Amino acid sequence: MGYAGPRAAAPILIDGLRRLEYRGYDSAGVAICDGPRLAVRKAEGKLARLAELLEDDPLPGTTGIGHTRWATHGVPSDQNAHPHTDPSGEIAVVHNGIIENYLALREELAGRGAVFTSETDSEVLAHLVAEEYTGDLLEATRRAVGRARGAYALVVVSSREPGRIVAVRMISPLVVGVGDGEVFLASDIPALLPHTRDVMVVDNGEIVDVTPAGARLQTLAGEAVQRGLLEVTWDVGQAEKGGYPHFMLKEIHEQPRAIGDTLTGRILDGGGVVLDEVHFPPGFVRSLDRIWVTACGTAFHAGLVAKEVIEGLLRVPVEVAYAHELRYRDPLIGPGSLTVAISQSGETADTLAAARLARERGSRLLALTNVVGSTLSREADDLLYTRAGPEIAVASTKAYLTMLVGEYLLALALGRERGVLGREEVEDLIAGLRTLPRVVEEALGRADEVRVLAERIAERDDVYFIGRGLDYAVAMEGSLKMKEISYVHSEAMPAGELKHGTLALVTEGTPVVVVLTQGATYDKTISALQEVKARRAFTVAVAWDDDDDIGKHAEAVLRIPRVPELLAPVPAVVPLQLLAYYVAATRGHDIDQPRNLAKSVTVE
Ligand code: G6P
Repeated sequence: MGYAGPRAAAPILIDGLRRLEYRGYDSAGVAICDGPRLAVRKAEGKLARLAELLEDDPLPGTTGIGHTRWATHGVPSDQNAHPHTDPSGEIAVVHNGIIENYLALREELAGRGAVFTSETDSEVLAHLVAEEYTGDLLEATRRAVGRARGAYALVVVSSREPGRIVAVRMISPLVVGVGDGEVFLASDIPALLPHTRDVMVVDNGEIVDVTPAGARLQTLAGEAVQRGLLEVTWDVGQAEKGGYPHFMLKEIHEQPRAIGDTLTGRILDGGGVVLDEVHFPPGFVRSLDRIWVTACGTAFHAGLVAKEVIEGLLRVPVEVAYAHELRYRDPLIGPGSLTVAISQSGETADTLAAARLARERGSRLLALTNVVGSTLSREADDLLYTRAGPEIAVASTKAYLTMLVGEYLLALALGRERGVLGREEVEDLIAGLRTLPRVVEEALGRADEVRVLAERIAERDDVYFIGRGLDYAVAMEGSLKMKEISYVHSEAMPAGELKHGTLALVTEGTPVVVVLTQGATYDKTISALQEVKARRAFTVAVAWDDDDDIGKHAEAVLRIPRVPELLAPVPAVVPLQLLAYYVAATRGHDIDQPRNLAKSVTVE
């Protein structure tokens, strides 16, 4: 975050960082220029600690930069917190991302006598800017980044030029907010919204020169760049908790609305699907030979659903790959294929790299993302936005469900164009999709039953999730939710795999959650349930409202309203989101900001 203007910078930076805390929160700091004096205040721990330090001992000054950190190089500590300064204390930098050649740079600088005070890669940037400084911060920064390699966003101030901030974007996100006689910099738009809705997105390889009078953009090669302002139309209130104790619970309850928004205007009465920003060339879909789906985390679990749905409907092979694996493989991606990169933020470094690889190999790239203007969205050929609204809780919920909805729409659009879908099939699916907001609302209405169950599971150390096909995809997501916020060890596996090893871990009372929505494999999965029951597991089933048999097999049943089986993941994940939430709440964890994690992982 950066600020240059007439007002006191520190409170503006703290407020902005609060809205960016989802990106990292293990330490925080600010550097403020007060005339020719540059002062740094930083501390390990959450932003609140830094805010307290500043309240006790305020820093005056109207130009400043701030940072909230998610450690990559060097443990969370006061020393490793940003900003970092050069030895003279005249230059301060904050930095997101990774400087890949920092060790070589550090050795080179140390060889000339530099002394480092942190273990970070970022600190070398302050030294480099200082070494290059001959009176112009813009030129010094430009030369400094010319020596650094990596993916990063960098913001720099100098006591020699109070009132000026220089920033560079090299892959990691960076936006400029333009106010009246004041300018803001941030790594995401919510930080700017209390002050301005006029935003300029900085592109890769650009450097921006900020003063209270405005922001000037250039390429790193020195060519001036003209870029208009974008007006942000969404409300800052959307990014606040709205009466719920946690953003996660609020976001879980926003799902009916988010699904409705994602569907709005995209289904025609006659059964057609309109995806405004998908423009496949003529004949492309008919000749499509393979679809690649790539993503990380929750988005990857949405990808597992995409594979089942698209392959099932289109009979086209769909490969789903973790982006961090795909990018280092030599995959058989080529022209004639479509790559669907799924990412809530559109900024996950691994997903971007895998998407770029696919494009380099001639694949068409479709971005299924929640963030308009994100890096992924700007690099893709086709766009399918999920319209979930800003998601603040680290554990993804509404973004996941809207990703699924996007996938159904995509499958329908592709299926129609390929001419492989029967009329009845399309009608059933469309009718089912239209019911989803109401169905999810109904599933949410049963939160109290989930809460009671959660109290029991909260006492356990391990929990297992099983299912087959689409139910396995849901089990994966349910298990991820559980471990990321409740810190209960959890694993998901295909129901048939349990007996090949993991069953050894099931003892009296071990909770085993079985997702059971698919008719074709129902009996087989019941056998797996019986196997764990015979080992005295505590069995919990997620099953349809009209499943009259399940009560005979499972000790506890979380019921979901009926929809066509292909759409089952949408209602089925809801009780599992709630289960994870209430287990975490019972155990008293920091639900919105679980330890060691970040909302958006913009480093490798
Ligand atoms: C992080 C988050 C996860 C998220 C994953 C992918 O690990 O903690 O919740 O699923 O990144 O994020 P993306 O923005 O690409 O969907």
